[in-house]
Formats: sequence, C-alpha cells, structure tokens
Amino acid sequence: MTPPPGQDVVRRIAGQLAVRGALADLPAAFLAGVTRFARPPQTELDALAADAGALARRLADGEAGEHDLPLLTRVLFFAGHAELLAAHGVPTPAYDVLGSFGANLARPVGPRLPERPTAGARRWPLLGRTVGFPLGVPACVLNGSEAWVRHNVANGYSVLTYKTVRGRAHPANEQPNWTFAPRQTASLPPGAAAEVVSDPWDWVGPGSPTVSSVNSFGVPSPEPEEWMADLERSLAAVSDDVLLLVSVMGEGNGTDLVEDFAGTARMAQEAGAPVVELNLSCPNTLSASGSGVKPPLCLDPDATVAVVEAVRRALDDRTGLVAKLSWLDEGQLAALVPRLAPLVDGIAGINTLQSRVRRSDGVPTFPGRELAGLSGIAVRDPALDFTRRLVGLREAGGVHFDVLAMGGVTDPASFEALFALGADAVQSASGAFSDPFLAQRCITALGETLPRAVEVS
Ligand SMILES: Cc1cc2nc3c(=O)[nH]c(=O)nc-3n(C[C@H](O)[C@H](O)[C@H](O)COP(=O)(O)O)c2cc1C
Repeated sequence: MTPPPGQDVVRRIAGQLAVRGALADLPAAFLAGVTRFARPPQTELDALAADAGALARRLADGEAGEHDLPLLTRVLFFAGHAELLAAHGVPTPAYDVLGSFGANLARPVGPRLPERPTAGARRWPLLGRTVGFPLGVPACVLNGSEAWVRHNVANGYSVLTYKTVRGRAHPANEQPNWTFAPRQTASLPPGAAAEVVSDPWDWVGPGSPTVSSVNSFGVPSPEPEEWMADLERSLAAVSDDVLLLVSVMGEGNGTDLVEDFAGTARMAQEAGAPVVELNLSCPNTLSASGSGVKPPLCLDPDATVAVVEAVRRALDDRTGLVAKLSWLDEGQLAALVPRLAPLVDGIAGINTLQSRVRRSDGVPTFPGRELAGLSGIAVRDPALDFTRRLVGLREAGGVHFDVLAMGGVTDPASFEALFALGADAVQSASGAFSDPFLAQRCITALGETLPRAVEVS
C-alpha cells in the first residue's frame, strides 16, 4: 500500500511554499487558476477566495493540520503547485488541466510510486501475450509520451494504449480541454443522452469513486517522425509484463479516410507497435457545420468495416488489431460485431459519451464546440451494458476476439465488475486521472484472487 502522506505533510508543504516565497501569493495564484478560462459567479468566487485566504494564513501561522489536506490539494492544483503535493506522495490529479496539451506531454503531475505494484508472478492472457494485473490506461492524454508510459507502468498499470496519433501533426483544440463534471456523481442509464453542466473551475477530490469528467481535445497529434521515435522509446521502456498498444486515427472522408487510417496504422507498426488500436469512436472530431463536432465513425457500420478491412490488409499478420467502439445500441452492436470479428484480435470500448456540455451560465464549456466527451462514473452502466452484450456476441458468434473494457472504472469494485463480465483487460482514464493510486488499490484488493490467471514458466 502507499504509505500515508505522513502526519506532518501539511507542515512540510507549508515550509516549502514559504521557502519558495509562494505562501503570500497562494490565494492570488489559486484565483488566477480558478478564473483562467471563465469567471465563477461573484458569491462563489468570494467564497473560494475566503477559503484560500484563511488556508494561507493557517499555513503561515503553523496552524494548518491534516484536515486541511483536501482544501490544500485543490488550492495547490489550481495555483500551479501540484508537483509539491506529488513530491510528498499526496494524491493529486495526474494531468494539469490549466496547462497546454504540449506542456503536459512532457511531464505527468501526479505522484509516482517508488516501486511498481504487481500481482507477484501472476499473469493474465491478453492478445496472444501475457500481462501483469490486467488493468491499464486507455488511449488518452495520460498515455501520450514516453514520460507518461513510464509513469503509468511505475504506478502499476499493465495494459497501456498509446494516445491516438495521426498521419500528420494536428493541434489541440482551444483550451479548456478537460474539466471535472462534479454534478455527474451517478451513472446515466445505457442509451441516455447527457446534458452536462461543467465549469472550468470545477473540482472533484482525488480518489473519489464518483468522479466524472468531460473533455474536448480534438485528438491532437505530434508529427509522425516525432511520435514514432517517442513510441520506439516507450516500447523499449516497458517490461515484458506490460502490453503497449498504439491507437491511430485517419482523417478525411470516404477512400481518403480509409487510406489514411491504413497509412497511419502502418507507421505505428513500423515503429514497433505489437498491437494497433483503431479509434473508430472519437466524439471530438471537428466539423465545420452544426455543433462543430462530427458523430463517432462507428455509427456508420459500412465506413467502419471498410476502415478495419483496409487496415487488416495493410498490416503484417504478426501485428495485432483492435477496434475501439463507442456505446452502441443493441441493433447497432449486433450488426457490427459479426462483421468485425473475423478482422480483429480485439474489440475495445466504450469511448467517451458524446454529450452537450455547458457552463453553469449556459455558455458552452469548450469554446466553439457544443459537444464533448463524457467519461467516469457517468458512463459506468453504459460500459457494463456494452461489455455484457459484446461478450454475449463473442460467445454466440464462434469467432474469438479479446475484449478490452473501459468506462467508469474508479475503484476495485468497478474494475472487477467489468472483468467478471468476461473482459480480458480493463482500462481507466477518468479514474486514473483522478486517483494516481487506482492500480495499486485494485492490485492490493484483487491481485491474489482475480481469476483467469495463467501459469508462466
Ligand atoms: C481526456 C481524455 C482524452 C481521451 N482521448 C482519447 C483518445 O485520444 N483516443 C481514444 O480512443 N479515446 C480517448 N479517450 C477515451 C478513453 O480512452 C475512454 O474510452 C473513456 O474515457 C471511458 O473511460 P473512463 O470512464 O475510464 O474515462 C479519452 C478520454 C479522456 C478522458
């Protein structure tokens, strides 16, 4: 288990803030972070300012104690001092939502365990290999570079999907790109459309099992030369109990889209990807019309199958292929899976749920994009429903593929629920963002008892 941060952690952090000369400025730095993208209503802003001011005084007077840790965590995160929390082993979200995508690529924020947690010698079969405890981080900004891959491996994850990359450089959407959705503390029913209220200053404390978030990054990607070199280093950095898949996406329409998917998949293979995952489910691809965002590709079954067929033809037989889908209704999934099953080694899902996202003042949270991706506990029941039906279709279809399940995994019980349905591996994005010790908690709870492990000589 992670050692608790220690009785005097608040005092030690206060001391370091004082050494940096940052104590007096702490309330102002916090408020600058809180108002970085929009201004809370005055009463809310006044309350936040009063809380931060009182905390700074207690820190300066040596009167702050352990009970101040939740507020201190929020204040330091928005004030740009999250790495101080991490340095003291205090959980903090892994990604700096105020910083740019590029700046975040270089450096995870959240704490890193001194020793990688494992389930001892136990291994689980996945995509023709064996992996350590079958929990991972899916394609997302928490897996966009070698630094993140190393970080996630150190914190106990064994199934990592390198963030979706493209066949040419693509900038991130205008910030903000990622916000908490603290009003979404329960799951939506499968198939429900979500209207989400999320303000850029919203906060959910690290480790909350009811965390939800919304994001609109637009699938940024470095140049292929850059990500291919980084991917080669990432693959060389992972131990043999870790599987690093690589997510790719094509651009354009019709045959251009198909060819771009195939070309980008080949680049990933050239860089050494053992398994390529196709992002057929992005809810954040920009479009010039309407809501500013396209529907996920997998809602169009013919276009989806055309892409997967072309990629399968383009890749060597030894490269594994995974198709990542969004939540699909019964008819859609039952029609698509039998067409995909002979072409792929695995099916992953669900992606974030494309949702209308607004601030509490009614303005779209993400400028120019009315729709964004909802994830975390809000999509837990849709993920369970999707996984149950996907495993059922696998059993009924007679063609084996592995299932990589994700959506709403924030604690050991939600990991176990997806695994028990028959998923071969489970991944978590929002849970891993919010709780840097999620894998460790799952391994501690289930590492010795999780079924379906195989003997490895
Ligand atoms: C900030 C963020 C960025 C994401 N980027 C990608 C991506 O590039 N490619 C992809 O296939 N899925 C992406 N996803 C979706 C996740 O991989 C995952 O399918 C989804 O978040 C549901 O899991 P969760 O509830 O554990 O977050 C992203 C999710 C988040 C939160």
